[in-house]
Amino acid sequence: MNILITAGPTREALDPVRYLTNRSSGKMGYALAEAARDAGHKVTLISGPVNLSAPDDIELIRIESAKEMFLAVESQISKAAVAIFSAAVADYRPATQATQKIKKSSNRLTLELEKTEDILGSARQVFGFSGILVGFAAETENLIANARDKLTRKGCDLVIANDVSQIGIGFDSSENAVTLCFPGEKSMPLPKQSKTLLARELIQQIEQLATKPRETHT
Ligand code: PMT
Repeated sequence: MNILITAGPTREALDPVRYLTNRSSGKMGYALAEAARDAGHKVTLISGPVNLSAPDDIELIRIESAKEMFLAVESQISKAAVAIFSAAVADYRPATQATQKIKKSSNRLTLELEKTEDILGSARQVFGFSGILVGFAAETENLIANARDKLTRKGCDLVIANDVSQIGIGFDSSENAVTLCFPGEKSMPLPKQSKTLLARELIQQIEQLATKPRETHT
């Protein structure tokens, strides 16, 4: 199958030298890309800025901002049978981007932020994607309720709930533990393990989804 995967953080520029970002290392998304490739799939990886080597035999598209990730996904998703959104995309960006470095002047500086494009939320509604849609939910509270809400609102076939309040898993860690949330209240916890092993199990679960008729949420 052709599988599209997003990974890593985005950078939202404030001025030519500063940006807003988050702690995503890209390890989860790159592990998924490598597991999918090793299982025989053709993988397109759309990645924010990370300190990881480009994986062999995977089409890698590098982006910086949420807008660039949106445009890259828009141009690639029609080729995919499966789309997995593991990137930590900024939800907000500076409403204006200064063309020159912002000078230090007053004691306080207020930033105005605007919403970025909701890439996962655009998959069904804007891009017309009809394949298997897998989102992540990085939550610090109400993990399963928030993941189930995303599952329904964004028309996903699976949401991978990631409790990012726990030390040693999630952002910028080599290990992770998640709960798979499927339509119809079915949930499956996967215990703490390396992102490499977890990714293999996730790809197997997603392959099984691809063999069944899609359950619709809209
Ligand atoms: O990169 P690592 O250090 O390995 O860490 C892995 C991870 C913690 C980043 C990963 O496991 C994870 O949880 N990824 C989702 C991070 C996130 O930002 O989740 P969210 O709940 O804010 O977003 C929900 C979903 O919408 C995600 O699939 C996200 O990719 C997508 N999204 C979010 C915002 C946006 N503007 N567009 C999106 O497509």
